[in-house]
Amino acid sequence: MPHLLHLDSSADLAGSRSRALTAAFAKAWAARGDDHTITYRDLHTEPLPRLSTPALHWAPRLRRPEETAPEADEALQQAILDELFAADVLLVGAPMYNYSPASTLKTWIDYIHVPGTTFTFDDVPSQPMAGRAAVVVTSAGGSYVEGSPTESWDHLTPVLQIVLGTALGMDVTVISTELTLAPRIPDLAAQVPHSEALFAAAVEKATTLAAKL
Ligand SMILES: Cc1cc2nc3c(=O)[nH]c(=O)nc-3n(C[C@H](O)[C@H](O)[C@H](O)COP(=O)(O)O)c2cc1C
Repeated sequence: MPHLLHLDSSADLAGSRSRALTAAFAKAWAARGDDHTITYRDLHTEPLPRLSTPALHWAPRLRRPEETAPEADEALQQAILDELFAADVLLVGAPMYNYSPASTLKTWIDYIHVPGTTFTFDDVPSQPMAGRAAVVVTSAGGSYVEGSPTESWDHLTPVLQIVLGTALGMDVTVISTELTLAPRIPDLAAQVPHSEALFAAAVEKATTLAAKL
């Protein structure tokens, strides 16, 4: 059964573009049939506690003797990892907050970016998610497109590409929507039609991708 893990992290429960885009993807995924199942996790409304100890950053076999973690925290991390391992496709809603991922999403990354468990660190091959699809939906108030003066300010997309793509070996597709603050910032007013066009194109891309992944 093809299974989707759908994560959202926007703090905006009313007008979020990343939430609208992940919802469009999930709807198109579900429309493929009852065998296309979904696990949903809202990292904003039900935030994970931040990592209690750096021991959790390492696979148990790579920890030093003094690096221990409370049993309950180990169990929570294992549950988060099992949720990821069960996914054929990972869908991540990622708003840009201060040029980087929302802290709630960053915390989820802290749980799943584990040397020796989700990516190979020593001579034991450890990349269980390799080759599976990850769809990253980014949403930013400004613009960080290639060639723009603020291109290098985007510390959201690269982090997700490095962790999910380079480290975990997943096949990452980024669906981005930008200039979402155009209707609100007077200097960006002329960009409103462009912002709307970007969003419409992103909806189309999400829907098309969900129908074929
Ligand atoms: C706490 C916070 C920080 C933000 N920081 C940035 C930023 O650094 N750059 C930017 O372009 N937009 C920033 N924004 C605007 C959001 O990226 C924008 O509203 C985006 O649409 C959020 O995604 P969403 O529509 O899925 O909620 C910020 C918004 C919030 C609430």
